[in-house]
Amino acid sequence: RKRIVSGVQPTGSIHLGNYLGAIKNWIALQNAYETLFFIVDLHAITLPYETQQLAKATRDTAAIYLACGVDSSQASVFVQSHVHAHVELMWLLSAAAPIGWLNRMIQFKEKSLKAGDENVGVALLTYPVLMASDILLYQSDFVPVGEDQKQHLELTRELAQRVPEPLIPPAGARIMSLTDGLSKMSKSAPSDQSRINLLDSKDAIANKIKRCKTDSFPGLEFDNPERPECNNLLSIYQLISGKTKEEVIQECQDMNWGTFKSLITDALIDHLHPIQV
Ligand code: TYM
Repeated sequence: RKRIVSGVQPTGSIHLGNYLGAIKNWIALQNAYETLFFIVDLHAITLPYETQQLAKATRDTAAIYLACGVDSSQASVFVQSHVHAHVELMWLLSAAAPIGWLNRMIQFKEKSLKAGDENVGVALLTYPVLMASDILLYQSDFVPVGEDQKQHLELTRELAQRVPEPLIPPAGARIMSLTDGLSKMSKSAPSDQSRINLLDSKDAIANKIKRCKTDSFPGLEFDNPERPECNNLLSIYQLISGKTKEEVIQECQDMNWGTFKSLITDALIDHLHPIQV
């Protein structure tokens, strides 16, 4: 059987972007592949962290995997730092990784720019080499991730002779913020209003949807570049409801925001409920 590997950092709250871009796709693929899903705690220490909090977040992330439907009787679910070979391979690969390639990584540029060169550890630069090790150690065939990891996957391919391909879902690969349809939903965005966390209460979900950014065009539509929020919310609704894009268009094209917001709120609450109990 072909093998897939993937992981999520145990930083802060796991949000809908992590779920729709990655974890939900793992579940969809897990019966067809041999699977390894790890909690990448070593990646999480590349930015400031607190030991107790990291330990808790690591356990919580494992619980989220299972709650989302990862089948632990089939998948290998484990903590990255428990398998020392990840770091050992990283050292070997880092000797083959040109600094220039790492300097060009968008996530590194963004994060280091924000914190300033004097305040970020070298590990933030070499982070993608550790990710390459996570993948190459297991000779993975596919890596189901969201779009923001594509560049890291390309680096992995360059670093390796074999070629793992990213498995990016056709929809959900880039879930956008609730407060700005042009930015990615992100754990590190300062406002919690910008994301739905998987463990948000019903009231929090309802409140976030109520306050999320919309527009004043008539009706609702996908793919209008002037309406990024509308496209994002319809896409989320499509994924959560399990409907096709065409079905969502039929159902929602003539709706106003009020009607749609109550629809998506109920759908989110229903979809997340089994994960939360
Ligand atoms: P992390 O923890 O930032 O994100 C976990 C997964 O969620 C996806 N994702 C999104 N997808 C859609 N829309 C969004 N707004 C969104 N935000 C995040 C990410 O693409 C990712 O799939 N470096 C990785 C973790 C990692 C890894 C690996 C992944 C370490 N080693 C080996 C695969 C294989 C990361 O920081 O993901």
